[in-house]
Amino acid sequence: MTVIRAARRMAARSERLRRQGKQLGVVPTMGALHEGHLSLVRAAVKANDVVIVTIFVNPLQFGPHEDFRRYPRNLPRDIRLARRAGADIVFAPSVQEISPTGFGTTIDVGPIGERLEGRFRPGHFRGVATVVAALFHLTKPTHAYFGQKDYQQTLVIKRLVKDLCLDVRLHVLPTVRERDGVAMSSRNRYLRVEQRRQAAVLWRALRAGRERIRTGERRASAVAARMRRLIKAIPSARIDYVVAVDAATLAPVRRLRGCVALLVAVWIGRTRLIDNLLVDVS
Ligand code: PAF
Repeated sequence: MTVIRAARRMAARSERLRRQGKQLGVVPTMGALHEGHLSLVRAAVKANDVVIVTIFVNPLQFGPHEDFRRYPRNLPRDIRLARRAGADIVFAPSVQEISPTGFGTTIDVGPIGERLEGRFRPGHFRGVATVVAALFHLTKPTHAYFGQKDYQQTLVIKRLVKDLCLDVRLHVLPTVRERDGVAMSSRNRYLRVEQRRQAAVLWRALRAGRERIRTGERRASAVAARMRRLIKAIPSARIDYVVAVDAATLAPVRRLRGCVALLVAVWIGRTRLIDNLLVDVS
């Protein structure tokens, strides 16, 4: 496996691979790899000739009071895990390498980036879209892989690909969960033992919401209220949002129909966790 740090070298390598007609699978990450990322790498390995894992803690997608500085970084461990999962290339540029003069250009994907996460983390999806576009430009994927755990992010990137006519097929793979249902996330390592136990309430709430829908509830507010009640029973939990919305647009709805997304963003102590569940309301 090759580790590439220089943007130009990455671009030259992917250009050559594309000219040779190779299927190029790319898994964009911010490192701190866990089983969720590795499931994406393995899926990419099955379907592509060459798999690139990008590791870049993107300063543009963190707000001024967020955890950019303390975000977990361990490149040697990430390289080892990516290699074991079958990746061919790890592209791990520095901030200086990706954007030597800072970003003057940014990409705004419109309303899909402004709802929910976008409201609580202003500018977050501008940062994601801008960096993903730069990473796609350098790695030139035929296929790119993302986890459903960051559901709104997958919609933002779909929009980016469509609007900029990018020649890449997106694959969204299921969230990988711990035994108690907690979605795997690099931020789980911030949780203390008791908080880690309490974090399972997100998954319990999502399942309870789904159960309400399955037993006939069609009012979005009632489904959200059921989820909220469960989360509020945990003293260290603080809700940013708990919603049942249209899965394609994330727009609020009164009555649930078609594909519905249940989405939660909850602080457990000082750690902010997100999770989601899609429900087909037929
Ligand atoms: O999901 C992530 O890890 C990041 O948001 C991504 C897609 C790598 C962009 O920085």
